[in-house]
Amino acid sequence: MLFDVHAHYDDERFDEDRDILLSSMHENNVGHIINIGCDIASSEASICLAEKYPFMYAAVGFHPHEAANVKDGDYDTLIALSKHSKVVAIGEIGLDYYYGKDIMDIQKKVFREQIELAKSVNLPFQVHNRDSTRDCLMILKEANMGDRCGMMHCFSESKETAREMLNLGMKISIGGIVTFKNNVKTVEVVKYVPIEDLMIETDSPYLAPVPYRGKRNSSIYVHAVAEKIAELKGMDTDEVIAITEKNAMEFYRID
Ligand code: NI
Repeated sequence: MLFDVHAHYDDERFDEDRDILLSSMHENNVGHIINIGCDIASSEASICLAEKYPFMYAAVGFHPHEAANVKDGDYDTLIALSKHSKVVAIGEIGLDYYYGKDIMDIQKKVFREQIELAKSVNLPFQVHNRDSTRDCLMILKEANMGDRCGMMHCFSESKETAREMLNLGMKISIGGIVTFKNNVKTVEVVKYVPIEDLMIETDSPYLAPVPYRGKRNSSIYVHAVAEKIAELKGMDTDEVIAITEKNAMEFYRID
């Protein structure tokens, strides 16, 4: 079944129909969803969703947009949350120089600290990277991690960057942008990266794939990402779904 490795169901855009929508996942062939934390409140909300729905899991962490809001004691809280049986990752963590140019140094510090936190609790992490590839690669290199370390969420960089990420042991997650018209870069990345290193995601409620572009995204639409990858790699969609599911189950240690 489809495994959506990155979604935000605590977002207010799901307030009206969250339960109805999530209850329809199984019939839409969505077998697993990881809900992502952006601060302490959304990390706790992710755990609540994971407790309510057997097919949901949680990631806990500070999004780079929130880097300046990390307070004393927040990492202790994150460590405590990470012990929950349904927390499978630290995230989303990383860098965003598109929005956060004024807090670059704080972002780098908080990114480094959360990588160390992930190591200390032995969980993989999910990385957000926007207009910050050089620093992102530098920090990941410094961190000197093993094979099962992190996943680049909604990868939108070049094939060359993908190669460097793979060399560092990172996995690549593909979102709806691969279906967007004229997205040559991500098409090249999908053709280049071995299927064993790929996962699929929606980043719901954002970035709905074609033909749902502009709508509120949901994990149901992740099938469009699997179909596009199948087309680009000359594989069956069912095969792409099965392999990306297996990749995510192993990476996030889900039975
Ligand atoms: Ni996200």
